[in-house]
Amino acid sequence: MGKKRIGILTSGGDCPGLNAVIRGVVTTSAQLGYDCVGFLKGYEGLYDPVRYVTLTEQNTVGILNDGGTILGSTNKGRFAATVGVADRVELDPQLLAGVMTTIKQLGIDGLVCVGGDGSLAVAQQFHEYGIPVVGVPKTIDNDLSATAFTFGFDSAIECATNALDRLQTTAASHERVMVLEVMGRHAGWIALHAGIGGGADVILIPEIGWTYENVCHKILDRESQGKRHSLVVVAEGAELPGGGLVGEEQAGAQAKLGGLGAIVAAEIEKRLHRETRVSVLGHLQRGGAPTTFDRVLATQYGAHAVRLIMEGKLGEMACYHPPEIESVPILEAVNQVRQVNPDGSTVQAARGLGVCFGDRSSDKNPFGIRQQSRSEELLDDVETSADIEIDADFTLDIAEAATEEALS
Ligand code: F6P
Repeated sequence: MGKKRIGILTSGGDCPGLNAVIRGVVTTSAQLGYDCVGFLKGYEGLYDPVRYVTLTEQNTVGILNDGGTILGSTNKGRFAATVGVADRVELDPQLLAGVMTTIKQLGIDGLVCVGGDGSLAVAQQFHEYGIPVVGVPKTIDNDLSATAFTFGFDSAIECATNALDRLQTTAASHERVMVLEVMGRHAGWIALHAGIGGGADVILIPEIGWTYENVCHKILDRESQGKRHSLVVVAEGAELPGGGLVGEEQAGAQAKLGGLGAIVAAEIEKRLHRETRVSVLGHLQRGGAPTTFDRVLATQYGAHAVRLIMEGKLGEMACYHPPEIESVPILEAVNQVRQVNPDGSTVQAARGLGVCFGDRSSDKNPFGIRQQSRSEELLDDVETSADIEIDADFTLDIAEAATEEALS
């Protein structure tokens, strides 16, 4: 029997940490005596034409901190299996049969598919067809339900927070409103975390409906406190107040989102006559070196993926349930998007800091706890008729005791 062999591919939009996963898979495999091959350009390299490279500890030296992916990736083409949340597109059976042939001919015992929601939906279809796969969760959006963190997210929020730090100083110098548009198709995790970390005043996310009035109110509120500049963070996937996303439709693929920041900035300028500028962070969030957190997480995912193959846990995806890396069926991971909880502690903490989510004009009660008003407190100090009766009884008791004493 020949040496066991593991395959790996990176699919969908890239993000920092993909190379760290590849290195994790290759080095762990080498320790266990497995060979490794990497398929090129996502799933495309699996069939017609089959394109792959042999991966060794030697040719993956130094990639841990490199952004992008040495294997290439795509979120389009024959293997694009989703065009929206839970919108599954069935793969052509001929493609599946072709991939199965490749896997058999190359003697692949397990294929590590590194991807987000759409790419893992493909991996699930492979699994159902009998192709031996395991998954690793990747996306800067951090919106996969089965894991606390996808790798790439931490690097993206580092980039967005850094951008806000820079916008803060120029906004203050010019007394301007600065709008920063960040990624986040279905979930506002990037906007929320970067917004808190970068001291934003307004955060608009897909999970919380908002109005221009409330956003403008917040800016005026700050001005009344002498703060003559404001930072607004907008997730590209937040809906307009009247409904609808901003972007371009694409045939056979997810819509290309973008442009909400410019609309929000124009509206603020129109309504308040305050100088307002917009910056779109775009793919800067997906490029560059991974943070330490992402390197560690990605490496652990890679090692765990090899372990899943060794243990025969095919159809499973590595996931992070702090503090441990565990696994869940891939099906669980692709079934629903993990969104920000509008009533969760992160949003509450932000509200506590005075951050406006555009759903209320002011936020005096971030935790939603019913507090006693001053008039209610005053009412508490007033004696009730029950108190007075007790007092009366008490007086009576004393009088009776005094009478008894006098008579004795
Ligand atoms: O899904 C990750 C993501 O970064 C989204 O936030 C964004 O809408 C999309 O990828 C952009 O993809 P593309 O690289 O095709 O422009």
